[in-house]
Amino acid sequence: MNSQGYLSDLFSLDGRVAVVTGGSSGIGRAITGALARAGASVVIVARREKELTATVGELAADDCRAAWVSGDLSTGDGVRTAADEAAAVFGEPDILVNCAGINLRPPMSELDDAVWDTTMAVNLKAPFLLGQRFGPGMAERGFGRIIHITSQQAHRAFVQSGAYGVSKGALESLARSQAEAWSPSGVTCNTLVPGFVMTPLNERLSSDPEKVAALAARTMVGRNGLAEDFAGAAVFLASRASAYVTGQAIFVDGGLSVH
Ligand SMILES: NC(=O)c1ccc[n+]([C@@H]2O[C@H](COP(=O)([O-])OP(=O)(O)OC[C@H]3O[C@@H](n4cnc5c(N)ncnc54)[C@H](OP(=O)(O)O)[C@@H]3O)[C@@H](O)[C@H]2O)c1
Repeated sequence: MNSQGYLSDLFSLDGRVAVVTGGSSGIGRAITGALARAGASVVIVARREKELTATVGELAADDCRAAWVSGDLSTGDGVRTAADEAAAVFGEPDILVNCAGINLRPPMSELDDAVWDTTMAVNLKAPFLLGQRFGPGMAERGFGRIIHITSQQAHRAFVQSGAYGVSKGALESLARSQAEAWSPSGVTCNTLVPGFVMTPLNERLSSDPEKVAALAARTMVGRNGLAEDFAGAAVFLASRASAYVTGQAIFVDGGLSVH
């Protein structure tokens, strides 16, 4: 076998169907591009149509199979409708990436019920509901990959972690519960853990050059993360190559968490 065939056996996503929430921006957009270029047919789910069409247009121009569904993942009904619409495009997914997330960051003393509930709904309940919707089918078919995007704030406090850090900590626990339930049937469930990544989510911090430099100095690599840094890890976790990796939190953070 030549090296192309070998790599293809390990990592190709040809014939796979993926659903990526938050696939229209930042880390999710980079993961969507990576999965699609590795061969998967990808449906992205988010609210804003302009960003959704731009992402799918870019991939279509690259001969990738991609489509979008506009949906609000902050309510149970929104999640269920978006999931049904997403599955209607290319079929039930083999790969689910939960990347949609929000970080509202009020100081702890001002953190109220509304911020808590919205944070938990988008960052934790939507991944749970999507897992319930797609996980059992993956298990029945004998193959599945569930990938959650958490945060260093699942592991330590960082710039008003508030409800956000709690939601991400719980999401890592959810991945372990899902892994326990479905790994015997070929469905692995893992999380990718970003450090500080230059995306629209943290515009306030990333537009301050001094803070950006100080954060870069806290990594081992010496720079902050870019959305593209998640491409390889996402393809690995979505592929056959990661069949024996499950329930894990894999840090893609330039060494920030161990420095
Ligand atoms: N950037 C970082 O430094 C960093 C660090 C740690 C963890 N993370 C995590 O990485 C993930 C991606 O973050 P990012 O930095 O790439 O953020 P981003 O660029 O702001 O992208 C967030 C995505 O989520 C979607 N989204 C937000 N609320 C939604 C809702 N209610 N319903 C449907 N879609 C929704 C957004 O689209 P619409 O607004 O159009 O809906 C967008 O596509 C998040 O889970 C975040 O917590 C990021």
